[in-house]
Amino acid sequence: MKPGKMTLDEFRLSELRLYPNATGELSNLLREIGLAAKRIYSVISRNGETGILSSTNIRNTSGEIVKPLDQYANEELLTVLKHSLSCAGVASEEEENILVFDNKANNNSQYVVMFDPIDGSSNSNNCMTVGTIFGIYRRCTKTGTPCSIKDFLQPGRHLVAAGYIIYGVSTMMVYATKRGVNGFTLDPAIGEFCLSHPKICCPDVGRIYSVNESNILNFGVTVRQYIESMQQYNVAYPGFFTARYVGSMVADLHRTLLEGGIFLYPATEDHQDGKLRLMYECNPFAFIFEVAGGMAIDGCREILSIIPARVHQRTPLFIGSRDMVTQLSYFVKYENRAGSRRS
Ligand code: AHG
Ligand code: MN
Ligand code: MN
Repeated sequence: MKPGKMTLDEFRLSELRLYPNATGELSNLLREIGLAAKRIYSVISRNGETGILSSTNIRNTSGEIVKPLDQYANEELLTVLKHSLSCAGVASEEEENILVFDNKANNNSQYVVMFDPIDGSSNSNNCMTVGTIFGIYRRCTKTGTPCSIKDFLQPGRHLVAAGYIIYGVSTMMVYATKRGVNGFTLDPAIGEFCLSHPKICCPDVGRIYSVNESNILNFGVTVRQYIESMQQYNVAYPGFFTARYVGSMVADLHRTLLEGGIFLYPATEDHQDGKLRLMYECNPFAFIFEVAGGMAIDGCREILSIIPARVHQRTPLFIGSRDMVTQLSYFVKYENRAGSRRS
């Protein structure tokens, strides 16, 4: 019988060996996030007993309904990262302000973490796929002092690592450093994430587009034209393109990363900055896709080049296979944000 697949811990150690001067802090962070993910997976999978997938009337700082699962996952990540010696502070989609772990040990660490504890939580009542998204930055303030908002308001280009956990038919952690993107599937028998998708590359083209089409009449005319161009192509070549939209970004982008395609969350008349959050959702995925050979833009700029002004800011997002996003950019040019509205 062959030995089992490499665990996330073994993989981290093998990467650490390549850098004799590495402190191991980044590696520790990935382990801690993996631990939180296993606990989150555990309560989701025991919903009958925990009732974690039910609803509340509480709203978060962005005005969205907060579910017990959002709260639990947020607390779990906060606690694990606070106990870790490798994190100086965090920003969470579910917290109004950044949280500075102001004590001697945490002040000495080099990294801050930003996360969306549960992405797609509105889908969770229906047993649909949800996820956790995270991004890790090296601090720009001095270690040994408490971290500050400056450490968080960095462009995505400065990310050191980013990843997501998808709680679906199986549970997977996918994470990227500049060295590559790798996927680890949770083996519940041993309670470990094991390397299942080494060196993930996003195909240059794909045949799936992913967008909330109910909003199409509120999109800018050029985005509409791009979507219609795929629909028209199908008149000549039936079935060439197909649409898939789960409504959980992690699920839609996991599929896009592995199979190729394009995901669009454009500005609409009501939401000029789109819906998705730059720091917790768009930057981590833009980083992952770029490392995997894909591309992410807001219509005029690379997502990773945006200098953030606020931790909760939103941005339109077009992300996926390089050739498809490039083609979309020819359609959108610079019109999208300039307010090219319904024709
Ligand atoms: P969250 O659950 O963290 O608030 O994120 C939900 C997001 C994202 O997962 C998804 O792509 C998008 O909302 C769906 O929005 P629409 O329902 O407007 O399509
Ligand atoms: Mn989300
Ligand atoms: Mn969320």
